Amino acid sequence: MSDPLVIRPFLLPARGVARVPGSKSVTNRALAIAALADGETLLTGALFSRDTRILIAALRSLGFEVSDDEKARTIRVRGLGGKIPARTARIHVGNAGTAARFLTAFLALSPGGRYELDGDEAMRARPMAGLLEALHRAGCRATAPDGGPATGFPFTLETVGRLGALEVDASASSQLLSALLMTLPLSPGSSVRMRGETVSEPFVEMTVRMCAQFGRPLTRAADGAWSCPAPGPYEAAKEYAVEPDATAASYFIGLPAVTPPGSCVRIGGYAEGGLQGDTAFARVAERCGARIRTDGPGVVVESWPKVAAGDFDFNAFSDTFLTLATVAALADGPVRIRGIGHTRKQETDRVLAMATELERIGVRVAPTSSALRDDACLSELTVHPDREAMRRAAADGPVRIRTYEDHRMAMSFGMLGCHDLFGDGRPWIEIEDPACTGKTFPGFFSALDALRGRFVRVAVDGGAASGKSSTSRALAARLGLLHVDTGAHYRTITLALLGRGARADDAAGIARTLSGLRASSSVTGLAARLAIDGVTPSDSELRTPEVNAAVSSVAAQPAVRAFLLGHQRAQAEAARAGGFAGLVMEGRDIGSVVMPDAEVRVFLEADAAARERRRAAEGMLDPIGNRDRMDSTRAVSPMVCPPGAVRIDNTELGLDAVVDRVAALVAAAAGR
Ligand code: CDP
Ligand code: CDP
Repeated sequence: MSDPLVIRPFLLPARGVARVPGSKSVTNRALAIAALADGETLLTGALFSRDTRILIAALRSLGFEVSDDEKARTIRVRGLGGKIPARTARIHVGNAGTAARFLTAFLALSPGGRYELDGDEAMRARPMAGLLEALHRAGCRATAPDGGPATGFPFTLETVGRLGALEVDASASSQLLSALLMTLPLSPGSSVRMRGETVSEPFVEMTVRMCAQFGRPLTRAADGAWSCPAPGPYEAAKEYAVEPDATAASYFIGLPAVTPPGSCVRIGGYAEGGLQGDTAFARVAERCGARIRTDGPGVVVESWPKVAAGDFDFNAFSDTFLTLATVAALADGPVRIRGIGHTRKQETDRVLAMATELERIGVRVAPTSSALRDDACLSELTVHPDREAMRRAAADGPVRIRTYEDHRMAMSFGMLGCHDLFGDGRPWIEIEDPACTGKTFPGFFSALDALRGRFVRVAVDGGAASGKSSTSRALAARLGLLHVDTGAHYRTITLALLGRGARADDAAGIARTLSGLRASSSVTGLAARLAIDGVTPSDSELRTPEVNAAVSSVAAQPAVRAFLLGHQRAQAEAARAGGFAGLVMEGRDIGSVVMPDAEVRVFLEADAAARERRRAAEGMLDPIGNRDRMDSTRAVSPMVCPPGAVRIDNTELGLDAVVDRVAALVAAAAGR
């Protein structure tokens, strides 16, 4: 067991981009589907955990090309349009339920294959019979080591390469059905019908929606049978963004309920109505007082004005009930949570565990923990908040919360501990075995810590190819900052002006054309891009030889600089309102003119030959020397190293080292 962790209350409003891992369910479905697609798919925001690694390894052992980059959270899969290269393979699925089921159905698509599959002890006991039985009727043979028909792992699977009209008993696990559904488009004329009910409808829904996202919608007939009306390989996705894990995101929806007013947390890629059933938590949280708004690709959660009493049914998204139960300790009246009886048989008896630990911090619950211990059928919990009692319970120091090897207990109480209960920063909650969060969210407590601290503006200036964009992009990703590339602003204006017939050196013509243009901003990921009359050009459109040649003349025009200055200065407010931890803006005059009062200002340098080499290595024809000369000698806002800025020469310094240095300056400015 790991050492206990004392949670430090937040003394400042929570702010920043929540580092939520990708959803496991979506990652593993996307991996299986991408392997059945025609061509290469790049998954972004993917989860790297034991279960996803097992599926990746299995696909590789079947002959698929899969490359992954854990730091960047990306996985590249080369799909083979339904072909499975290896006719024989030995695959170990560990205790990864999705990998076990998805692969088994997937292998059935191989004509004349013979695969040996096994899982660890726990997996051998988990439901598999429904799927094997269905595949048996499709002509596959799953043989147990004793030679008889297999009902679970281990088994040898002999396959024929098609499914036919199948029926599956998925009452024990919806994954048995999901596994077959994903293979339907690759086996024309096949269908799958469910015998009886399944446990988690939202996961079946997720599968069906993902099949459609990859170009093969499934339909369901009146008799309940699913089929694919236009079968064929899935369409590869140039880039498929895996949704952040909705259950993990719930702690960051709850956090602004317990941290000081003015909190503003961004959850990138989170969308209500997304693929995961647990996104319904957002609606419940709103009824309970949360302020959540959609902002570009994600949501922003602001301080809850209050935590309101209420009565909530968590049956369909019960993994998130622990989040609300802990937030409820700060409510203005009783909070009743119903429909959670089945969670008494999960990682631990979650209702009993929650009741016991809430009582430990002084909160009264009904039924009480002893009533729950006596009656296994009780299926709800009402939280009666009482701050005075909580202060009494923690009067002698932090209360140690037991976690019962349940990651969700650790994370929900960890979030509650961020509340400044005594108003003086004294910690009052300590988490036993914090490492148990590793099951789904290894970096949970550092992700919480990343949201402490003041809003910081970073100005990055320097000549062409001095490393401004790479450094700023990496810094933004590491710290959750909004990234604004003002070089791209000047390029966008240049492209717009050239496209409208203006000449780079015609001041009057440029001023006239500018008066008819409208600037706006759009955020993708962490980057804010300039749009002119609603159009945001692509990177390659911004880096043509024509734009390279004209941009510095255009940028020397006072009318152009005046046009952009207001837009650039407004970005700090946009970053603040968007929940970012701060802003990194790069260009030539950021620390001198646009944000001379930025908390952190750096000037990047590299010697001229190194910069020429870098651009040449990127295959770009770009008159760097010319531009630098014009940029530093023009009358308005010339490029300078702003007085007081930190100079970083990176001729010999790698990107990571530069980012480390700037990140340390930001941490100091943020007071982290
Ligand atoms: O990427 P690279 O450093 O080559 O150039 P950029 O950052 O895309 O900037 C293109 C041009 O825009 C520069 O050469 C400057 O003429 C102009 N610029 C500027 O005048 N002021 C800024 N704050 C940013 C760029
Ligand atoms: O934005 P700016 O024009 O200042 O430069 P960049 O596009 O970030 O970087 C130009 C090239 O230099 C890229 O290919 C970077 O990978 C490389 N670079 C480097 O080699 N070492 C650094 N410390 C920073 C950038």
